[in-house]
Formats: sequence, C-alpha cells, structure tokens
Amino acid sequence: MCGIIGYIGKRKVADVLLTGLKNLEYRGYDSCGISFFSNDEIKSIKSAGKIQGLEEKIKNTEIEMGHLGIAHTRWATHGSASEMNAHPHTVSNITLVHNGIIENAELLKGELLEKGYFFQTETDTEVVAALIDSYYQGDLVSAIFKAENRMKGSYALGIIVKGESDKIYAVRKDSPLVIGYGNEEYFIASDISAILEFTKQYVLLEEGEVAILESSGVKVIDSNYQEVVKKVLLADIDAERQSKNSYEHYMLKEIMEEPILLENLIKMFVDSEKMVISNLPDVSKYEEIHIVACGSALYAGEVGKYLLEEKSRIPVFVSAASEYRYRSPIYSHKTLVILISQSGETADTIAALRMAKDRGIPTLAIVNTESSTIAREVDDVIFIKAGVEVAVATTKAYILQVAILSLLSLKAAIAKGIIRDSEMSFLFDEFISLPEKIQEVLHRNYQNIAKEIYNSSTVFFIGRGIDYTMCLEGSLKLKEVSYIHSEAYQAGELKHGSISLIERGTPVIALITSEELKDKSVSNLIEAKSRGAKCIVVVTEKTEIEEVLKIVVEELSSFTQTLLVVPILQLLAYEVAKLRGCEIDQPRNLAKSVTVE
Ligand code: F6R
Repeated sequence: MCGIIGYIGKRKVADVLLTGLKNLEYRGYDSCGISFFSNDEIKSIKSAGKIQGLEEKIKNTEIEMGHLGIAHTRWATHGSASEMNAHPHTVSNITLVHNGIIENAELLKGELLEKGYFFQTETDTEVVAALIDSYYQGDLVSAIFKAENRMKGSYALGIIVKGESDKIYAVRKDSPLVIGYGNEEYFIASDISAILEFTKQYVLLEEGEVAILESSGVKVIDSNYQEVVKKVLLADIDAERQSKNSYEHYMLKEIMEEPILLENLIKMFVDSEKMVISNLPDVSKYEEIHIVACGSALYAGEVGKYLLEEKSRIPVFVSAASEYRYRSPIYSHKTLVILISQSGETADTIAALRMAKDRGIPTLAIVNTESSTIAREVDDVIFIKAGVEVAVATTKAYILQVAILSLLSLKAAIAKGIIRDSEMSFLFDEFISLPEKIQEVLHRNYQNIAKEIYNSSTVFFIGRGIDYTMCLEGSLKLKEVSYIHSEAYQAGELKHGSISLIERGTPVIALITSEELKDKSVSNLIEAKSRGAKCIVVVTEKTEIEEVLKIVVEELSSFTQTLLVVPILQLLAYEVAKLRGCEIDQPRNLAKSVTVE
C-alpha cells in the first residue's frame, strides 16, 4: 500500500527519494511524486504509473533541487490513480504526503469549503493539507495537534511548510512511520526497508508525537510539548538480503528461500533428539482458540485449525479479520485469540487484536515484521523470521506461519499427553526432514503443467480435509499473480452448483494427499473429468489414477504435508504468471501491506 520517504541531509535529495521510492515499490502503488525546496519555494513533480515515469521527469527538469524533500507512492483509495491525485498535495502553506484513510474527510471538506478553501483533487489527503493549513499561524506543531483532534481514521504524514526550508515534520496514527538516523542526515519512511541503503538506525514514532527533522538533528515532542527521548533501534535486515540476487523475480527468490528459512525455524524451536519444542507458548491450557487474519495468513490459519483440532483437540474458529472485528464473538474465560500477519500492519487484523484486548482476552500473534504495530501491541508474539518479503504475493511467510501452527499443535498435544511416543517421534523426524524434501520439489520443473493452464479463463482447485485448505492458498496465489479466475472448492461441494461452470478443457487441479479421503476425492475428480475438465492432480505415490496430468509428492502425515505441497502450488502460480507476461512481483491493484479497511 502507499509508501512514504522523506530526507534531509547533504546528499542529492532526488537520488535519495527515488531510491527510497524504489525500495517501497513492493508495497504496491499506482502513482508517485516528490516535493522539495528549490530556492525556498516548494516544488512538486508527480507521475501516474510507475516510478520510471517520475524518474524521467526528474531527469528532464531544470528546477534546482536542494537537500530536503518528501516523496510518496500512492495506492488509490479516494479518487482515481491519476497524476492530479498523486501525492504530495499542497494547500497554501502546507505540502504533505499521507498513508492511510481519513474517514471523516467529506465532513471536514464541507467545513473547509465554507472557510474558503477549494479542492483540486478527489483525495482525502488534500483535505488534511487544508485542515492543517487552516490552523497554521506560524506554529506547525500546534496546527498539527489541532488537526489531529479533528481527523478520524488512520494516517502517517510527512509535512513540509512554506518558509521553513530546513524542516520536515512527521506524525502518525494507526499507520506506521519510522525516523531514520544517518550521519548528519535524517529520514522518514513508512518502513525501515525503504532506507536501508542509507541507515539501519531508526526510531518508531508513536501516536501523539510529532517529529521535527532538521539537518542538525531530530526532535520528537508529545502533545504537552515535552521533548520525548526515543530509543534508537537497529534494523536486523540488510539491503543485500532485500535484493533479487540472480533471480528473475522476488517471488521466485522468496519461494526458493523456503527450505533454508524452515531449517532456521527448526533450529530456533525444535530439539528433535529430546523431542522438545522450545521458545513457543503452550496453548494447551485454552479451551478454544480464535484464529483471525486476512488473505493468505487466513488460509494458513485454516491449516492451523485442522492441525490444532486433530493433534491437540482444541476447538478452533477461523475468521477473516474484516468480519471478526464487526461481529460479536463469544469468548469463554479460556479463549485465546491468535492473530496471523506477515506485515503486522494489516488494518483489520490490528482492529481484531484491539477488540480482543479490550475484552480482556489473551492474544498471541504470529508475525514477520518485528517492529510492527501488531508485534508491539499483542500480549505474546512469535516471530517467523522470514526476512523482508518483497513480492506482493506472500510465499515464504505463509510457509513459516503454517510451520509455527504445526509446532503449536504438536506442543499442545504433548502437553496434554494425548500423543503416543511413537507418533511424536515420527512427527519430529518428519518435520526436521522437511527442508530437504521441499528443496527437492522446488527443483522440479512445472512449466509443462503451467502450459496446460495459462490460456484458461478459469481454474478450479478441489480437495477434501486438509487438502482443501491447501487449495485455498493455491487458488489465491494463482489468481493474484496470473489474473486467471480461480476458485477453491471442497471436492464434495463442486456438484452442488459450481460444476455447471466446468466446460471442455476447464482445468481442475485436485489435491489428493489425504489417505483416508483419497477415494472420495478421486470420484469427485472423475465427475469433473466426465464433463470435459482437464484434470491435473497433486497426489502421493500410492494414489493410482490414470489419464490425468500428475505431480507426485512423497506421502507425509497431515502434520507436514501442506509444507511440501503448497510450495509446488506457489511455483505453479509463478510459472503460469510468467507465461502470461504478468507483473509478478507487483500484481495490479494489490498492495503488500493493507493498512486501510
Ligand atoms: C496474498 C497476500 C495477502 C496477505 C494479506 C494479509 O498473497 O499476500 O492475502 O496475506 O493481505 O497480510 P498480512 O499477512 O501482512 O496481514
């Protein structure tokens, strides 16, 4: 979703801002722009579409650029993805960039129109600029605090003001913003990965604080105008780890990282000799668990439900955070709410977390981004340590989320004493052998299967039991990166309506790894085949099925099978998208971190 970068220092401002914007590209955007001081006047250059367009304009401009500026990648919410609507926005004295959504923008706009302001764009951001300007009488901090009292919604703002060519102001609520500390140079950024080439030292700006960046240093003040002493943190990521290396796309690189990341995760949490899972919470004391997340993280939760119920016999309810937050969930005095999020900044998941906390329910999060809002607000957190995930479509984070849920289920089963030693030992062995097994399936070629799919207008994924939960993720991955319509169905449900969509040649991908449900799933596949479907199956060696395209995988227990099958589906989606010439790392309309509802 939208990205912010701001810079004050000795470097050429355009170079720093463009580097930062490129680093933020992965979040998804549809227009971009920069503002800077040129001989004490604020100038802006904007472009609809990709950063290359902006870069061209900057190259061709004759305007002199100083050493201070703010920049933005916009993912359209209010108003189309046009150059006019691109940030920064200027109203009178104020120029700013904004991440988030102002929910009462229409109301504020009405008031500001009455005061004589007029608006050129359809954005809520222009309203924020006008609102701050309406309170500005030479003291920007006071104007910001007054505007904050009126704004409802989420925002991270980077602000510059006419007449103060040596200052950047920053403020935030429900949308992250960091301040980077370099050598006599300072940055604002929506996430630290935007500025890693320049510095790894940063502070997290908290709600209710305003940061003022000058070339001589940074001052952070609270709403009582008291200076706040901030703890400077060191980012545990390097710019190198964010690069594509020799891979054509980040998505491919990130899928290929899965074996090593899983190996690292095993080292962190599993002692297979002693059959102990350490450094993870024991969830066996809870009588029920609510798993709340969005998108792929939600589908990881579906796998988690299956395993927690099967292995540790704890009832689990899985909900999309966007629904959960507006429901009235029933909690018992022994409910645990587990939030899953790669970014830790997904607006709906944050809202669900806060709702559970307000009700006094214990919360546990499975998160990748350590400095994120969810990681900071939740009662207990497990970091998956996937490193930065740049491709918009998540791959490695999903795998590690599922791995953590598997371990939580096993740990709870051990704590409850409901798993036999022989099964326990088998599962530990299976789990630690996974990285090697995943490595093997990732080095196979799926292009022949991709060629069977890439010209189709619709694809079905079918499966039963845990196979169905894998279908959910396989189908999401395919549709988001290849733009082919795809649906995941419980194999037995297809004939209750959707089978009418199967035509001659419609690809139906059946996942048939679950031994006890295999015969049923095969029958469902044959029903589709009899209606002309092009059948592709992911099966274990034992499943005999003729005249279909097959991907054969080793048979594992339900505890680990997902971790071997979903990487194949990720690669398949990647290959199909490549054949279709899609923008794999930044699919249209999508954002990496969904910080608005
Ligand atoms: C799909 C994808 C999204 C995210 C979802 C939640 O490939 O990436 O569906 O899984 O937006 O994001 P996080 O995990 O950051 O809360």
